[in-house]
Amino acid sequence: MKVLFIGSRLYDDVAYHVDKLGIESIITESNEEAPNLDLPTRYYIVPRGMDKPMEIAIGEEVNAIVPLLGIDPPLMDVALMKEEIEEKHNIPVISSNFNAVEIASDKVKTKEFFKSINLNVPPANVLSKDDFETEEEFIEKLGFDFPIVLKQSEGQGGKDICITNEFKDVLDYFDSFNQALIEKFIEGSEVSTEVIGWNGEYLPLVPVYKGETSLEGIHPIKRLRYGPCDFEAMDNEEFRKIAKHIATNLKSEGTIDMDLIYSKNENKVYAIEINTRPSGTRYLSFACTDLNPLNLLVDIAVGNFNLTDLENEIKDYCALEVPIGDYEGPEPQEPIKEYINGNFIVHGPKGYQRITIRGKTYDETFKIAKDLTGNDYSSGF
Ligand SMILES: Nc1ncnc2c1ncn2[C@@H]1O[C@H](COP(=O)(O)OP(=O)(O)O)[C@@H](O)[C@H]1O
Ligand SMILES: [Mg+2]
Repeated sequence: MKVLFIGSRLYDDVAYHVDKLGIESIITESNEEAPNLDLPTRYYIVPRGMDKPMEIAIGEEVNAIVPLLGIDPPLMDVALMKEEIEEKHNIPVISSNFNAVEIASDKVKTKEFFKSINLNVPPANVLSKDDFETEEEFIEKLGFDFPIVLKQSEGQGGKDICITNEFKDVLDYFDSFNQALIEKFIEGSEVSTEVIGWNGEYLPLVPVYKGETSLEGIHPIKRLRYGPCDFEAMDNEEFRKIAKHIATNLKSEGTIDMDLIYSKNENKVYAIEINTRPSGTRYLSFACTDLNPLNLLVDIAVGNFNLTDLENEIKDYCALEVPIGDYEGPEPQEPIKEYINGNFIVHGPKGYQRITIRGKTYDETFKIAKDLTGNDYSSGF
């Protein structure tokens, strides 16, 4: 078996699994300084874009292509390549198709999509600079009151997002942008769920808790997170059902995740966004379920994706992920990106590292976290 991976930055997540399966691995990467280039069988430094990876895949006669891209901009190109190479060369690409990427990469389209499949979305409106002058006029056109969230239709990691209670921030925002998607601010708990899909079959992993929404607008990537969720009035299977419903209707392939906000007051789930790429919560999903989302992509690539087996294999660990900056505790064991031997995983670039820890119960997880980092995280619960 020969598999082409697009992008080397996330490759260390799957390297152990790829080698264990005896797969011949090829990476294409546009940055020769990128990490992990020593891990595959061989690699090619290529210009940006998908022309070269496609040419190499065909020339090397690979069995499948697994894109490992953590950012949004190339996803459209990958989807176009997928269409062509699957049809003309019969090489499967383990990622979402054009239609799914198009919906997920545009927050306005995502919202229309959510509504069309009967999910709750925050009330919203798209307004332009010229639509209003005064605060009264703004509120009237908007159709709801502060607090609000201003967004651009594209973006990730909190880019171009403004959460505010005040009209003057709206004016500032429209100094930089002519148009905005404006949503009612929903007070609640942020929840992400990953879904692995292939050939019309979908495996939702675990709902992960990413903290409360706040007017300070601290993006979930900067918060402590844990999984599975533990809301009193909301069953986790309900989140998994919603996640599967979204993936099924989107006809996603490979790995996606979705952001939801759960309002305890209303006991209601709001759908916020979808990402059709490896998730920022994949280490937590992995820690909880014992299924590594990116390893599952490799399994799909080699023709091994059995939903019933996987549903039976899913574990139920309690996992915690904390931002740690520079981790200085005991070294993780080899393989460093697997939970073998009760391991923990340190990930992310220096200065922005996170550590993901799991135990059979939350108490056990907190104890391990305290031993590793010196901090007591149980108080934040
Ligand atoms: N309607 C909303 N109500 C409350 N908070 C929101 C809302 N929309 C977005 N947020 C906050 O902003 C963050 C980023 O918004 P999101 O639409 O997911 O964009 P990004 O692609 O940058 O992650 C969310 O994780 C959440 O913290
Ligand atoms: Mg988000």
